[in-house]
Amino acid sequence: MKADVLLGLQWGDEGKGKIVDVLTPDYDIIARFQGGPNAGHTLEFNGIKHVLHTIPSGIFHPTAINVVGNGVVIDPVIFKKEIDALQKMGVDVYTKLRIATRAHLILPTHRLLDAASEAHKGLEKIGSTLKGIGPTYMDKTGRNGLRVGDIKNPRFREKYDQLVAKHKEILAAYQYQYNLEELEPAWFEGIHLLQNLQMVECEQYMNDAFRNKKKILAEGAQGSMLDIDFGSYPFVTSSNTICAGACTGLGLAPGRIGRVIGIFKAYCTRVGSGPFPTELEDATGEQIRKTGNEFGSTTGRPRRTGWLDLPALKFAVMINGVTELIMMKADILSEFDRIKVCTHYLHRGEQIDYLPYDISPEFVTPVYTELPGWKKDLTGLHSTDSMPAELSSYIEFIEKQTGVPIRIVSVGPDRKQTLFRGAVPA
Ligand code: IMP
Repeated sequence: MKADVLLGLQWGDEGKGKIVDVLTPDYDIIARFQGGPNAGHTLEFNGIKHVLHTIPSGIFHPTAINVVGNGVVIDPVIFKKEIDALQKMGVDVYTKLRIATRAHLILPTHRLLDAASEAHKGLEKIGSTLKGIGPTYMDKTGRNGLRVGDIKNPRFREKYDQLVAKHKEILAAYQYQYNLEELEPAWFEGIHLLQNLQMVECEQYMNDAFRNKKKILAEGAQGSMLDIDFGSYPFVTSSNTICAGACTGLGLAPGRIGRVIGIFKAYCTRVGSGPFPTELEDATGEQIRKTGNEFGSTTGRPRRTGWLDLPALKFAVMINGVTELIMMKADILSEFDRIKVCTHYLHRGEQIDYLPYDISPEFVTPVYTELPGWKKDLTGLHSTDSMPAELSSYIEFIEKQTGVPIRIVSVGPDRKQTLFRGAVPA
């Protein structure tokens, strides 16, 4: 039994949290492989909404083990808040959670550096969530970072002070004002909590599980268009959000990966700066934002909205080797008479159906096809048999364009509002 990977194919916020939660009963282990508290994975059941930032979305399942992999960056302050909230709900996090010793720690000064860097960039800013993600991954690749395993080192405080001293020099160069003493107590409380959780050598743990025939689901954060190598650079996050990130972020060899489950919304959204070819800056975009409640679950920022972008989706399918698709939020398009889908870009006078180096408006203009809307409320549907014909046509159109089957269609935020199409692949 190979490990399956579930990841977002657009600019994040595709609905990974809901789907991981729905699929968890099929798995023994859910493992987050990259990103950090910039993510906000939303789950809804029994009329209650839950947002997870660092902890995998399988945590509500009674027996599944949830692993925070070595590719993740952890802010002890946010992590403690998540744990406290879960414990209040009666979730036994101490039994169900494993933390990779090689995962890097987000320091309070990483958050300050993020804010200072964004302020310095002015109009060129990335639109970061300001959770310290970029500076932490910079320290990881710069070989300066502090890792979870360091917490048990008697010299931990000394190592922390050394790194903070470096950060203070950079903050001084930015002429950034801050009060670190205010931030440190909560951070060290979080460190204390981490000390009491089950730390594991993630690569060993995952490979032992694999040998013991445990069913593993690797959970991505953000989306392929935010990948540090293949996203719309520099308006990206600082980790590999694509399938390959599951290998480096958990210590699983490529040959151990089985199904690659790619999630996309029936339309597109993006939060933060950067190019977005199919963006709708009009009443239609506003309608999608309102109906779809497209506001960031981590920052509350309004998300930019637009029609489905097939060249970008096909690119993500290719880069990830997606074997099956899941389409989210079909219900949000129910109000429209006609639905547009971008099938090509006009690029240097030519129609192309792939993603060029730069997708800024000066280089690409989207070319659309129109499909009839279904004009029916989908939120009460329980099976694909009662799906409107126009929705089936929309799905089949995307399947034909991408060459990948759509196995699940989500028609609402609740676990129950999930329609399965066809058998689960072996
Ligand atoms: P950072 O990773 O917080 O530095 O943010 C870099 C870019 O990725 C910004 O445009 C963010 O809005 C975006 N981003 C980061 N995490 C998420 C996410 O979980 N969903 C959607 N966008 C995200």
